[in-house]
Amino acid sequence: MAKRVVLAYSGGLDTSVAVRWLGDELGLEVIALAADVGQGGDFERVRERALAAGAVEALVVDCREEYARDFVAPALKANAKYEGKYPLVSALSRPVIVKHMVAAAREHGADAVAHGCTGKGNDQVRFEVSTRALAPDLETLAPVRGWGLTRQQSIEYAERAGIPLTVTKESPYSVDQNLWGRTVECGILEDPWQAPPEDVYELTTPTATEPVELTIAFERGLPVALDGSELPLHDLIGEVTRAVGSYGWGRIDMVENRRVGIKSREIYECPGSLALLMAHADLEDLTLERELAHEKARLEPRYADLIYDGLWFSPLKEALDAFVEESQRYVSGEVRLRCEPPGRCIVAGRRSDAGLYDYGLATYEAADRFRHQDAEGFVRLWGLGVETWAARQARRRQ
Ligand code: ARG
Repeated sequence: MAKRVVLAYSGGLDTSVAVRWLGDELGLEVIALAADVGQGGDFERVRERALAAGAVEALVVDCREEYARDFVAPALKANAKYEGKYPLVSALSRPVIVKHMVAAAREHGADAVAHGCTGKGNDQVRFEVSTRALAPDLETLAPVRGWGLTRQQSIEYAERAGIPLTVTKESPYSVDQNLWGRTVECGILEDPWQAPPEDVYELTTPTATEPVELTIAFERGLPVALDGSELPLHDLIGEVTRAVGSYGWGRIDMVENRRVGIKSREIYECPGSLALLMAHADLEDLTLERELAHEKARLEPRYADLIYDGLWFSPLKEALDAFVEESQRYVSGEVRLRCEPPGRCIVAGRRSDAGLYDYGLATYEAADRFRHQDAEGFVRLWGLGVETWAARQARRRQ
């Protein structure tokens, strides 16, 4: 039986009750670990709350840079969107959190890790499968999945245990957020027929009144500068999120297939990630050779599925990363995004020194260098098989 556990701690009600519960019910020493993945908020208060709940140690780890570089960047290069829509906000952050939980467990001599997920979601899968990939010797505990408390009972438990409840009324929604976007579930959203009320949105409240253009420079598949100023990836994502979000663009309302067999209605706000994914894919259209582009497009949904399903640390994911990395060799250049109120963001232009767009081949003007005479023989041979088949059809009908 474990003695010390590292708990992924958010500062919310469930994980606060989990701190106390793991101590009282299982006799464990709890080390609370809060990971800063760009969700915002006051981490000093989060730390204090963990200690007030009974943690022997409360750690805050700033993972923003690493998260952007090692987790978001590969997903962006792979144009990863689950079911063609969701840029994997929560799915991408779990493996980086697990990495730090495992490191903390080693450092502080813990023999288990724990998370506050319920049994109905994908995040439990991601936490536990990632842990088994990185540290198969650690036990994984899921107190919230086991204790069967209703929300009201959790509140009462917290009150009895003297855990300070947040003064603000807890939101009726379940929210997860990091620098790649924001997810919203529960409450009225559980009825897929109901339009989401405006109060679910935070990153995409329309405030901009004038159009704007953003120029994003890419190098080997990654955004490196915004309007001429170089920025670290995590800051660049933040800037694009704020700029594009102010046009009310970047909302997703979808019914998705969870790994555990449930369909769920999800609201996502992803102005930064969707804009960067759109710009990146557009630059690929300009720079990737056709067969490479088409094969990559076939692999992208597979890549997104692996991330969604908790298989970030897995051999197929590693192999696909190698393919994707190689594919990005010439994905360098600039993309111009144009935002207009209300709710519009489009690619307005793209250019690259490594582009495969050849004006001399594409133009219908005088500069045309395309050898028109070559087309005749090409088209005849291209259609030869079909022509032969059609001739047989004609003979059979006689
Ligand atoms: N359905 C999304 C996913 O599986 C969002 C999950 C949000 N997680 C959460 N703990 N609220 O990635």
